[in-house]
Amino acid sequence: MSAYLTNADIYQESWDRQQLAFMPDREERFGAMLNAVAAVTDGAPPRLLDLAGGTGSIALRTLARFPGARVTVLDQDPVLLAIATASLRERGTIVDADLSDPAWRSKLSEDGFDAVLTATALHWLPAERVATLYGEIREVLRPGGIFANADHMPEESLPGLSERLRSYARGRRDARYAAGAATSWTDWWKLVAADDFLAEKVVERNRIYPLDHHSTEWTPPAIWHLDALRVAGFTEAGVLWRGGTDAAVVGVR
Ligand SMILES: C[S@@+](CC[C@H](N)C(=O)[O-])C[C@H]1O[C@@H](n2cnc3c(N)ncnc32)[C@H](O)[C@@H]1O
Repeated sequence: MSAYLTNADIYQESWDRQQLAFMPDREERFGAMLNAVAAVTDGAPPRLLDLAGGTGSIALRTLARFPGARVTVLDQDPVLLAIATASLRERGTIVDADLSDPAWRSKLSEDGFDAVLTATALHWLPAERVATLYGEIREVLRPGGIFANADHMPEESLPGLSERLRSYARGRRDARYAAGAATSWTDWWKLVAADDFLAEKVVERNRIYPLDHHSTEWTPPAIWHLDALRVAGFTEAGVLWRGGTDAAVVGVR
């Protein structure tokens, strides 16, 4: 068997379509985060950490947009990291680390990043861990570097409308599944488990995320994240992008 997954591009495509069913504006939020990266690097190729990066979606878009960028993808999912590894090859660094352990930083081969970006991931961690993690992330940034987190972060002043927006989004998602326009999360994992190369990594994954009970699904309003970023020592913290009940918050070191 090849050392690499040979059809990583196909899995990238199907992962994107599976994620797009949850976030039709996924590319828009990535674009907003990369605009902020461009703004703080003044044309120099960024050094970027794609945190809980899964298949390396953000890292790959960074390489496409900024020739010469240096990217690192950190995650602990062996399946998604196998896809990221095959897609990046020598164009980036892969780090296998658990963000619930503060020692994750010791696994990095560099620090002083221009940007740490993360998407749809930190709601897998409990609140108190996210707050502490924000301080740890700040430490791996250079002064003036940015951290951005795009995730489910409702607007606190719109509790009723947020519920309706979520219900509307659920309806659209179900319609996509019914029409075969996208693969559901569960079905995507079934497809991957049927792949010769990835099957044994799925077994490993199921030990890390038993029964897929991975997520605390704790999704506080954006204001919670802004407070946590300020407490963690970021000099500026604010909302960079908003789409419905999702937002990207940013902190400047
Ligand atoms: C929904 S995926 C998003 C992946 C990627 N950021 C994207 O937008 O496509 C959530 C990711 O968070 C990662 N993750 C969750 N908890 C983690 C932890 N404790 N340590 C490292 N990665 C974690 C998962 O393995 C998974 O790859």
